[in-house]
Amino acid sequence: MGNVERNPFDKSVEENTHPVAVVRMVPIFIMGKRYEVPRSLTIMQAMEYAGFKFIRGCGCRGGICGACATVYRKPGDYKIYVGLACQTVVEPEMYLTQIPFYPANRAGYRFEELKPAPEEIFKLYPELFRCVACNACTKVCPMNIETMDAVSALKQGDIKRAAELTFDCIQCGLCTSRCFGELPQHHIFQLARRIYGGKIQPEAEHLKRAVQVIKKENSFDEILKSLMEMNEEELHKVYLEREIEPTTATEDWMPSERQFLFE
Ligand code: FES
Repeated sequence: MGNVERNPFDKSVEENTHPVAVVRMVPIFIMGKRYEVPRSLTIMQAMEYAGFKFIRGCGCRGGICGACATVYRKPGDYKIYVGLACQTVVEPEMYLTQIPFYPANRAGYRFEELKPAPEEIFKLYPELFRCVACNACTKVCPMNIETMDAVSALKQGDIKRAAELTFDCIQCGLCTSRCFGELPQHHIFQLARRIYGGKIQPEAEHLKRAVQVIKKENSFDEILKSLMEMNEEELHKVYLEREIEPTTATEDWMPSERQFLFE
């Protein structure tokens, strides 16, 4: 039946009684080589299905860490597409490769010595003013960030707006890979968010309270000490048995053990 194959691991396929037992396969090209993979997989799962083992280019598997930036093309389409391998589902005949790391200038600084002023960013990243406003960075962003607007905001000295616009940045570096002006946008925005969060935004009251409680009552000392005394096997057990918030949890979900929660 065309590109429909049976899942060799599913015994129920033999009886052919359940529609779920049939796995539909699609061809994809990973770094130029053709593979047949189940069509419901993400790019990351498909690569593993094809036999690849991730030793880098894979972190959270949840669309947060930015380690799995992927570029691909579709047949008969001139456009280059981008996505996160852990989030993007395969499409028939897609040509793809991952770019888990993209070299970019990253300025060195001592954060405590920086002033809460845009001039600090201009000094560390003068290439900010090489932006030609082509908007390629915005088009390529897998998080739908208004990247070029954030660059413009910074050029105008508006650190707050740049920090807020780029709050969802996962540092994948795809913007940098496409930039005509050679800007390392993701590093520049990270600095902007650090300056805004650490030196401009008012301190959060609840956080201040929590830090005071920790310092005064040494609330975590005992549990940290017991963790540090565990061997690898014990740590593994504790890790596997920890309570995890269910993916379907509602807003008011609370862990059963609440002794370390702050009001
Ligand atoms: S593995 Fe973390 S974003 Fe994909």
